[in-house]
Amino acid sequence: MKKKRTRFDLQRMKAEGKRAVWMTAYDFTTAQLAEQAGMDMLLVGDSLGMAVYGYSGTVPVTMDQCIYHSEAVRRGAPDTFVIGDMPFGAYQADVADAVRNAVRFHKEAGVDCIKLEGGQRVAKVIRAIADGGMLVMGHVGLTPQSSGAMGGFRAQGRTAESAQAIIEDARAVYQAGAFAVLVEAIPPEVTRMIAADLPVPVYGIGAGDCDGQVMICSDILGIFQAFTPKFVKKYAELGKEMLDVFKSYAADVRQGRFPDDVHTYKMPPEELDKLKALRGS
Ligand code: KIV
Repeated sequence: MKKKRTRFDLQRMKAEGKRAVWMTAYDFTTAQLAEQAGMDMLLVGDSLGMAVYGYSGTVPVTMDQCIYHSEAVRRGAPDTFVIGDMPFGAYQADVADAVRNAVRFHKEAGVDCIKLEGGQRVAKVIRAIADGGMLVMGHVGLTPQSSGAMGGFRAQGRTAESAQAIIEDARAVYQAGAFAVLVEAIPPEVTRMIAADLPVPVYGIGAGDCDGQVMICSDILGIFQAFTPKFVKKYAELGKEMLDVFKSYAADVRQGRFPDDVHTYKMPPEELDKLKALRGS
């Protein structure tokens, strides 16, 4: 049996220069496979809004949706460190609300930590959740929940001023009590400065090499069709394979090739005779 990572393991990995690997998962089966593959962590990202529900962004995602999917992932990966992603609206209105929602994630879904987006502006929220005895991961750089305000899903920190603001955001969330920070869609030079500046693990998505990487499951599998960010490496084209499977299945049924003998239950001949007799035929 695999031993679940703790914050101390993750911290040690940073010290030893060992990169942590994680990905998103939204369902039981994927979580089971990801655990078998030896993922260090799993994120039940609010990206489920796009990957599972077909929204055009993450803003409509609710706490209830995140909880349902986190429960399924927890069941599929009991020995993996699971991160619950606080959806838009779960921590913006007031700090008490944010703490209540972080508690829900732990009590109802059994997550190991929560992640939330934003820098200095969410420092108070991070402090309150950490003071409540829960682990918090920060998320700075491109923060998809505010993609509207940012003018779309665009790389961040490409000017000296904006890079400096992200570096300050990362420091603010660390100082507020975050045990790790995720940086998204920023130049690798800026990521390296943040990883060198902070004593806690700094993970990246679209941000170059650092203490570890996260990728969105449906992106690396090649299933998500709406768009592919520059930083995504597709390890398969499962979307195309799925399409072929669905077409073959439909053709088999329409041509009478399925179900065939191999895929049907057999009735012992004497029972069939008895049944015919019962029915008088
Ligand atoms: O929701 C999500 O999947 C994320 C990724 C950008 C890591 O936060």
